[in-house]
Amino acid sequence: MDFGLMFKLFLVSLLGKILIAEGLACNWGTRATHPLPPDIVAKLMKDNGIKKVKLFEVVPEVMKALGNTGIEVMVGIPNELLAPLASSVRVAEDWVSQNVSTYISKNGVDVRYVAIGNEPFLKTYKDMFSQTIYPALENIQAALIKAGLGRQVKVTIPINADVYQSESGMPSGGNFRPDIHDLMISIVKFLNDNGGPLTINIYPFLSLYADPHFPVDYAFFDGASAPVVDGAITYTNVFEANYDTLIWALEKNGFPNMPIIVGEVGWPTDGDINANKEYARRFNQGLINRINKGIGTPKRPSPPDIYLFALIDEDAKSVQPGNFERHWGIFYYDGSIKYPLDLGNNRNLTAAKGVRYLSRKWCVMRPDADLSDSNLPQSINNACTYADCTSLGYGSSCGGLDVRNNASYAFNMFYQTTNQQKGSCDQFYNLSVITAIDPTPVRDSSCRFEIMIDTGRHEQARTPTTSLAGRMYYYNSVLTLEFLLGLILASFC
Ligand SMILES: *[C@@H]1O[C@H](CO)[C@@H](O)[C@H](O)[C@H]1NC(C)=O
Ligand SMILES: *[C@@H]1O[C@H](CO)[C@@H](O)[C@H](O)[C@H]1NC(C)=O
Ligand SMILES: *[C@@H]1O[C@H](CO)[C@@H](O)[C@H](O)[C@H]1NC(C)=O
Ligand SMILES: *[C@@H]1O[C@H](CO)[C@@H](O)[C@H](O)[C@H]1NC(C)=O
Repeated sequence: MDFGLMFKLFLVSLLGKILIAEGLACNWGTRATHPLPPDIVAKLMKDNGIKKVKLFEVVPEVMKALGNTGIEVMVGIPNELLAPLASSVRVAEDWVSQNVSTYISKNGVDVRYVAIGNEPFLKTYKDMFSQTIYPALENIQAALIKAGLGRQVKVTIPINADVYQSESGMPSGGNFRPDIHDLMISIVKFLNDNGGPLTINIYPFLSLYADPHFPVDYAFFDGASAPVVDGAITYTNVFEANYDTLIWALEKNGFPNMPIIVGEVGWPTDGDINANKEYARRFNQGLINRINKGIGTPKRPSPPDIYLFALIDEDAKSVQPGNFERHWGIFYYDGSIKYPLDLGNNRNLTAAKGVRYLSRKWCVMRPDADLSDSNLPQSINNACTYADCTSLGYGSSCGGLDVRNNASYAFNMFYQTTNQQKGSCDQFYNLSVITAIDPTPVRDSSCRFEIMIDTGRHEQARTPTTSLAGRMYYYNSVLTLEFLLGLILASFC
């Protein structure tokens, strides 16, 4: 073995060690009717060795909870802000001042990246952000430099994997999509010049979701799939093949060493036939093992930072991409464990601590109510318009319930989402009743008849008025009011 090779091996193993010491990284979204209090989430991350977090927007309570925790933060800028940020450096300076500088200096938040936009080139957005993304990037970078943060905070843009493609179908055929090819090159060049990485989101689950003929094993990391041979390289999972398609695209355009971050990757547990705990565990365990061992890809052996998607479920996310969208969490919305994960270093996943729940009571269908009652479908529909019923769909965790349990599930979800508010179980044409007996059907025990967390009690236990929980509580009350109005109107018409 020659010295050069030995040195390389030494470096690779050193990098691997550094990575283990660095810990895991994850995404933390807050589109939930009952968001877990930010300080509990920050503790949850620390307890599970998560050292880096990516946020989709700046939520003050979330930023404050991350202060002085040692957790490195990537803050996101929503696509809606791209146009104003592109329009003037002044707007960008205000954004950096209010949303970055202050939190660094006043709250001790370790901001490392600003993620500008989120998947701005998604085909469904058409060209909506293609005029504003580049000037927004320039303006934020200028503002960071002006704020004296040019060294500490790097800019990046999280892009979805469909910005590149391969005509041959093989990674080596990778190049950027023709319609945004030149723009991507400008972006990559700008990021490269300013020491910023390119952030890419890779979703093997979506490959499987989009194509029923996709070979299931190729989505996972256990090598069970038939190999895909690309020249001298053999691939046994789509994650590596996808990532290397980008590496080829960058190499072809003159950026062979462009630093990359995987901004989102994960597997949902509900809302689709392939979104289940078994697959999610198989995928995430495989991914975490790779991260802990410092495994890269055939084209790029040094491993990127990988942000798991996601830490916790979000029951208020849009289901436009699919019902699974609310179930990406490694944890349920309340920080409880969905399935065991070995995090390495003899550490198992640990649940959130200090979570307070509403009372142990549920809203269910009256035992004496008639299943053929003509108001039943409308009642379920009303409940599910406001509460999250994505677990009731075909192939989902509560998809096998009989009609009675199905109705109970919907009523309960509404009741809990409205914080068990007085009267909210009386809104279903006398078809529902409150019970203190756990209604979870024995036969379908994987279906959770939720009790929501008590955002009000967390509130009192912590600080006054404007916290996240406070705002969400208000939001819930508004929902109930709207719902009541809707029912009143409905009964008039
Ligand atoms: C800070 O970020 C929030 C959330 O993204 C945004 O609503 C707000 O306008 C930003 N502040 C400034 C001064 O741009
Ligand atoms: C982790 O959990 C598994 C069961 O899921 C258990 O067998 C194992 O002993 C646990 N390991 C540690 C270190 O707690
Ligand atoms: C509600 O239904 C129960 C039987 O299912 C009945 O005893 C009761 O009188 C009903 N209440 C109203 C207000 O209709
Ligand atoms: C349960 O309710 C959901 C939501 O309204 C509906 O889509 C589903 O068909 C229902 N299933 C049964 C068995 O009634």
